[in-house]
Amino acid sequence: MEQNSSLADQEDYVKKDMGPFQGRPLEDFWNYIDEWTDKSIIGRDAHAEYHDHVPNHEEMYQECLNFDEWAWEGDRDASNAARITGTGQSFEEVLNRFANNRIMRWNEEKKIFEDVTHLRQWPRAFAIPYEYPESFPTICKFLDENKHQYTKPVISRMGPGAVIIPHRHNLIRRENRILGRMLYNMCINFPEGCKFAMHPFGVIPYKAGDIYRLWVHEGVHSVINNTDKDRFHIMLRPANYREYVPEVS
Ligand SMILES: [Fe+2]
Repeated sequence: MEQNSSLADQEDYVKKDMGPFQGRPLEDFWNYIDEWTDKSIIGRDAHAEYHDHVPNHEEMYQECLNFDEWAWEGDRDASNAARITGTGQSFEEVLNRFANNRIMRWNEEKKIFEDVTHLRQWPRAFAIPYEYPESFPTICKFLDENKHQYTKPVISRMGPGAVIIPHRHNLIRRENRILGRMLYNMCINFPEGCKFAMHPFGVIPYKAGDIYRLWVHEGVHSVINNTDKDRFHIMLRPANYREYVPEVS
């Protein structure tokens, strides 16, 4: 019995089934948030947990505003794609992700996600701060001082209207090793009206400078930035993290 569940778990590592959410279409994630939010669940089981607060977020925000070499998700250029492989994905995986990517928006009146790929307006972009230390001195200093906690930093920029549709992450497997189950997610700024929710935690009350732990492989999560400002976060992997796939004979 134990072996069977381990085997199922191993397959689960490779691909998460993104079927209906709570018995409803996945895109109804936001429409039923009051029903599925469960504040009695805390910590790891809530898939989101407050971790820390960084006081000098305003300087980091200015660095993001001044930066102009963002790698755009909509840009199929190979060298551009290579810039964000710091997330742990291979070059081919990133290219594949770009090729299949759809650009969505959240229609607040209709309460639905709409496909706006045809508009060719790519509202999301990335930067790896260590590749531009002169542009991100405050961020790099913070990262240097916290190497024992965080690694593989990627700054994510979500422009006005950008959304991250409800999803969970596929676990990335390298031979017998899983590349992390939990991410840190640091908020550099959070425009008023921006929304970030994780199941079953509910809306995450992000304030600029907050770092949360997110169990992105287990919890369905989504972000909507229907504001007129860019939203910047830093995605961080836990340092020295190893998780091995259990041997199943
Ligand atoms: Fe995610």
